[in-house]
Amino acid sequence: MKDLKKITEIEDLRRVAERKVPRMFYDYVDSGSWTETTYRNNETDFDRIKLRQRVLVNMEGRSLTTDMLGSKVKMPVAIAPTGFTGMMWADGEIHAARAAEKFGVPFSLSTMSICSIEDVAENTSAPFWFQLYVMRDQEFMANLIRRAKAANCSALILTADLQVLGQRHKDIKNGLSAPPKPTLGNILNLMTKPQWCMNMLGTKRHSFGNIVGHAKNVEDISSLSAWTAEQFDPALSWDDVARIKDMWGGKLIIKGIMEPEDAIMAARSGADALVVSNHGGRQLDGALSSIAALADIVQAVRAENSNIEIWLDSGIRSGQDVLKALAVGATGTMIGRAFLYGLGAYGEDGVRRALELIYNECDISMAFCGHTDINQVTNDILVKGTYENLKVNSY
Ligand SMILES: Cc1cc2nc3c(=O)[nH]c(=O)nc-3n(C[C@H](O)[C@H](O)[C@H](O)COP(=O)(O)O)c2cc1C
Repeated sequence: MKDLKKITEIEDLRRVAERKVPRMFYDYVDSGSWTETTYRNNETDFDRIKLRQRVLVNMEGRSLTTDMLGSKVKMPVAIAPTGFTGMMWADGEIHAARAAEKFGVPFSLSTMSICSIEDVAENTSAPFWFQLYVMRDQEFMANLIRRAKAANCSALILTADLQVLGQRHKDIKNGLSAPPKPTLGNILNLMTKPQWCMNMLGTKRHSFGNIVGHAKNVEDISSLSAWTAEQFDPALSWDDVARIKDMWGGKLIIKGIMEPEDAIMAARSGADALVVSNHGGRQLDGALSSIAALADIVQAVRAENSNIEIWLDSGIRSGQDVLKALAVGATGTMIGRAFLYGLGAYGEDGVRRALELIYNECDISMAFCGHTDINQVTNDILVKGTYENLKVNSY
């Protein structure tokens, strides 16, 4: 295990990942759609929320332990599903899933992962969550659900905000593909990433493991945008959610909710959790930050008397962000880039370090705010006026 004590914040991991990961895959992670305004606001809106420091409160015996979907977690943070993760580090999904398992938080595997559902199941022991993109090819989709069940996945995440793809300029300019095409530019860039290349030579997993060899008539899906345009189902609607829930028959998470009306629909759909998420600023640029959308969604769902769990992702780069999301009313969070930077920097050790950093920041900040149990944190720890109006004051 690498000693990463001098890595003191997620930003350190980002900088190392930027150095070590081939340009097209680093850019795929560190980008949002179009002008990237929503991508930036996801982080800056967190900074605008201020915490209330309390003193001379007994801070012994602190705990961040809570439940997500009825299972105990060491902190209210799950690894979000991300595509191409096995291109940040060879067999990246397996490394990230192992780090999550050892730490005691849930791991989610994307439909667009490099390691397949079976690869991750064979190389881990804790059940993980599977994220489903609904495809036009119904048979292929039903088969994905069957495979996730057979692999003992403990929840299905239905991603609701990617029926069409938000344009990400860098991916087009870089010619993003898995594996990278042998162009002169790519070869020159890969020559500067020796550790990445050596690690990649040690694995056979170089393309989309859930799809290649499983979907009919799919010869070349190296290009994500081509695959999305061809295969993702733009007709997906709330009517399909019930059908998918039935096919799955287990816990269901709906991810990508940004408006109270949709949150109410999610609550009525019988889903077990919803994720307030703008896909990390990668879909509708110009949308609110997730944290700005959260308070109204919490209020609307509470008014329904629904016990659907409300989680948040997009923009979490520290344990303080997790604490703020919980104070505004979420009961769980997910992290995307924060773990991907760790993975790109140091593989499994880097993901562990990312989780440790977030844990420690959340724990100490909670103590400063006068709490010892994460389940007791409310908006009482926030300075009034700094979190209620993020929506109107979003810039
Ligand atoms: C590189 C990358 C790939 C992603 N791929 C997927 C995906 O395949 N499926 C999905 O539901 N969400 C995907 N997402 C969105 C994440 O699940 C999550 O919503 C987002 O990363 C949260 O924002 P954050 O990165 O600021 O934490 C992806 C995000 C990133 C950064």
